[in-house]
Amino acid sequence: MCGIVGYVGRRDCAPILMEGLARVEYRGYDSAGLAVAAPRGGLRVVKRAGRLARLHDALPRRLAGRAGIAHTRWATHGEPTDANAHPHTDASGRIAVVHNGIVENVSELRAELEADGVALAGETDTECLAHLIARAAGPGTALEDAVRAVLARVEGTYGVAVLDAEHPDRLVVARNGSPVILGVGEREMLVASDVAALVRHTRQVAHLDDGELAVVEAGGFRTLALDATPTSKRPFDITWSIEQFDKDGHEHFMRKEILEQPEALERALRGRLDDRFATAVLGGVELTARDVLGIRRVKLLGCGSAYYAALAGAQVIESLARTPADAEPASEFRYRDPVIERDALYVAVSQSGETLDTLVAVQEVKRRGGRVLGVVNVVGSTIARECEGVYLHAGPEISVASTKVFTSMLASLGLLALYLARVRDLGPADGARVVAGLRALPEQVAAVLEGEDAIRAVAERVAAHDSAFFIGRHRGYPVALEGAQKLKEVSYVHAEAYPASELKHGPLALVSPDLPVVAVLPDDPLLDKNLSFVQQVRARRGPLIAVTQPGGEAAHHAAAATGEGLFDEVLTVPACEPELAPVLLTVPLQLLAYHAAVALDRDADQPRNLAKSVTVE
Ligand code: G6P
Repeated sequence: MCGIVGYVGRRDCAPILMEGLARVEYRGYDSAGLAVAAPRGGLRVVKRAGRLARLHDALPRRLAGRAGIAHTRWATHGEPTDANAHPHTDASGRIAVVHNGIVENVSELRAELEADGVALAGETDTECLAHLIARAAGPGTALEDAVRAVLARVEGTYGVAVLDAEHPDRLVVARNGSPVILGVGEREMLVASDVAALVRHTRQVAHLDDGELAVVEAGGFRTLALDATPTSKRPFDITWSIEQFDKDGHEHFMRKEILEQPEALERALRGRLDDRFATAVLGGVELTARDVLGIRRVKLLGCGSAYYAALAGAQVIESLARTPADAEPASEFRYRDPVIERDALYVAVSQSGETLDTLVAVQEVKRRGGRVLGVVNVVGSTIARECEGVYLHAGPEISVASTKVFTSMLASLGLLALYLARVRDLGPADGARVVAGLRALPEQVAAVLEGEDAIRAVAERVAAHDSAFFIGRHRGYPVALEGAQKLKEVSYVHAEAYPASELKHGPLALVSPDLPVVAVLPDDPLLDKNLSFVQQVRARRGPLIAVTQPGGEAAHHAAAATGEGLFDEVLTVPACEPELAPVLLTVPLQLLAYHAAVALDRDADQPRNLAKSVTVE
């Protein structure tokens, strides 16, 4: 979602804010702006609709000031225009506010301000906050008290940063549902919605909790609750390095992150495979063997790609641990008044650890006494702090389209499945088989990546069509869903995924020479059945692309030897343990989507209308 950056310290802040905005631009990029406390008093505010480059061009040559706030926006209330861009100020220009999230009772607050004769300049919910804080910050009222008083009236979610021309030595920040991270530097402090904006300056960070405010000055910070009770917060060190946030010579983060998968998987598995007991060691999971034996069912929750990873994870858990397991979009789960089962294990899957729907689902389960594990990438993120769990260690993922984190989720859920299974019914020989399968993944993914040129050629042919289908069944189905998602989100080629056997119940009507069908065909006991399904596509002369393993490739060649091959294109990934096939089968689909986007001249890193880390409903 939107990105926030703030600075107070000994340096001129405009370049620091702009650099920080560039780092969080992936969270939102339809407009951007900044406010700086000018040395001679007053605030200077510059904001522009469009990409960050437009703001950059609009900045005055000299923009001095040692405290400031900045924002990159992904519009929720109001069009992306200059007026609606953040920061927003009150009528006198004293108070500037940047905000992520949504003020739900905005109509009531706007009406109140308008009744008081305040002329609102734009349509955003945030502007109200600036006017209300300015009204509350009368003589003798500390800025943090004014902010507290206003936030106490706000219904909805926020991460906010406030700058006051009358107190240019401080920022006041607060959070409720949208991340705010403090970065502790040398006689300077930063605030941001994402560590990406902080790592260049400091490794010492502290995350605000919901309902918490911080008063941030060059020399440090103090935190308090909305009712003014002081809270305590100890900064911790982040291990991500600045290089991980750079493109490192690649044209797009998406391709860089696809190519990083072997190392990401290695990190996800490091120290977690136990050969002696043929199981997984998961430091952050506190379930005892007795707890595991008591689990009657596993429910996985996530959104977007994390939900598809959860679907695949549920399959592995069910098949290895012989425990009923299923996955549901967290957004649906939280609103359907679900029954929370005491003997169920809930697993929240999230890259950012901040996705609001997933977070609220976690909180709802916990509130009703359920046990939740988090499978999360960002250390110290809200979901990670809410639950015990497994960190993915995939490193920062900048591209909106999730790639390396998706495969790390699959591997980590494989570890969790193995751990649960080895306490339950899985014997040591099968355990050892899965351990070896997991250990082989980084090298096998590297082998798939070697085939990039062939995949690019297929992608260019797919990009020539307006639509594509992805089909798969059982373990191939979540992969097909993820493949279709990747293609549509970065190339804008319309793509749908179906369980292979559902084609004949409707979608087959659309299959024609102009509709490529990508068939995900793991080499498992269903392979023969799946191969016969693809004949239905062949019969309608739909271009067929197989993403398969050696068995599928062999069947294609055998058919070719006696006449026509089964497919128009075959992309083959190495043989592996069947439970882990989704990891390998996903990689060609990521490259397919990426190269289709490039062929169509799309910006793969910043797909239209989408944002990473969605902290609104
Ligand atoms: C957004 C992103 C997706 C991501 C989803 C869940 O929609 O565009 O790539 O899968 O959020 O994000 P999370 O951080 O919870 O994994």
